[in-house]
Amino acid sequence: MDHFHYSNDRYLGEEVPLAEVAEVVGTPCYVYSRATIERHWRIFDAAFGQHPHKVCYSVKANSSLAVLDLLARLGSGFDIVSGGEMERVLRAGGHPSDVVFSGVGKSESEIRRALQISVGCLNLESESELYRVAEIANELAVKAPIAIRINPDVDPLTHPYIATGLRDSKFGIVGQEALAVFKRAADMGSIEIKGVACHIGSQLTETGPFVQALEKVVDFVDQLASHGIELAHLDIGGGLGIHYRDENPPDPETYTSAVIEVLDRRGCRLPVIIEPGRAIVGNAGVLLTRVEYLKHSDHRNFAVVDAGMNDLLRPALYQGFHEILPLQQGSASRPRVYDVVGPVCESADFLGHKRSLAIAEGDLLALRSVGAYGFVMSSVYNSRVRPAEVIVDGDRFHVVRKRETVDQLMENECLFPG
Ligand code: LLP
Repeated sequence: MDHFHYSNDRYLGEEVPLAEVAEVVGTPCYVYSRATIERHWRIFDAAFGQHPHKVCYSVKANSSLAVLDLLARLGSGFDIVSGGEMERVLRAGGHPSDVVFSGVGKSESEIRRALQISVGCLNLESESELYRVAEIANELAVKAPIAIRINPDVDPLTHPYIATGLRDSKFGIVGQEALAVFKRAADMGSIEIKGVACHIGSQLTETGPFVQALEKVVDFVDQLASHGIELAHLDIGGGLGIHYRDENPPDPETYTSAVIEVLDRRGCRLPVIIEPGRAIVGNAGVLLTRVEYLKHSDHRNFAVVDAGMNDLLRPALYQGFHEILPLQQGSASRPRVYDVVGPVCESADFLGHKRSLAIAEGDLLALRSVGAYGFVMSSVYNSRVRPAEVIVDGDRFHVVRKRETVDQLMENECLFPG
């Protein structure tokens, strides 16, 4: 559920008519709903009930400082994958002890900084990374809190680009190798084993794969215990899908009940960390765009809009579907079936194919469900500046990121110095 809806033919974010945002801030422009973000985080937090848990919002989904700020105020933890995300969390008021640092390629400087600020846990993905972390921790005379990400070899039944828990994936460590790495870690003076981590993919629309993976993780926890390795937590990653078109993903309560059912049945009382990203912010954001040109031929109609694949990459990269709605209903224009395309010089630059819309040049449109992996994946391809970001809050709205300027685009460059 989200807080974007029509009222008297006008499309609103909470109580703010989005056409007003577009007039004041310009287009393209991302708009997020505070109430939706907070609601989703709270649902996850409440769904675990008495089971000890921490919701570590996955920053990669939407790393806007203001979004992180809202979540930090709720007491959220954070799942990060880079030094840049780490600094964003700190700036937004997140507590380092509530941060888990994931990712297959952490650099020396990222690991050093993470240990210096005392992040809660480094989720390691290879034996080499364990050695690197141990060495840096030694040098800093600290104990590095770590979890090891295991690869459970489970098919998440999602788009291949966002499946991560299959044996052939670059993520995590498989079966017996993971056990060997844990044993090595247990013998290292500068390492403190905290937990085991697992994340099998994103935009999962069934509980089955989550349950399968969790059963394997719990088997593994039992195996570790039989080798005298006790854990302090179980990090089950993120991945819960959202509704874009015709998917019907489980709601957070159903997902959480499935998790708790496995843990109870298996007698596992370990505190759980979850890392949801999309399910918290995905449906909390829309992208506003204006129709520049309508272009008709005998077999095709194009609506050329001012947002392109550089602003929203999901349609081009994953054939992602985002509903496209006019900000004003009841247009006098005749409905036609349009390919909604951007201004970028690529045929992959489309936002939606075959959409029935009654629109005219100059009309404003909203692309729905772009709060996750929208702005964060934007680029400046074609030297297009990145869009503004706005948060609506009741009947008010706040610009939380100004539109980039062309000067900013070139600020780190110079003419050839020779
Ligand atoms: N934890 C880890 C270790 C992850 O790799 C991810 C996402 C998450 C948590 C959060 O997953 P979520 O709850 O958001 O599904 N750009 C793609 C999605 C990439 C997901 C990468 N990892 C998209 O637009 O669909």
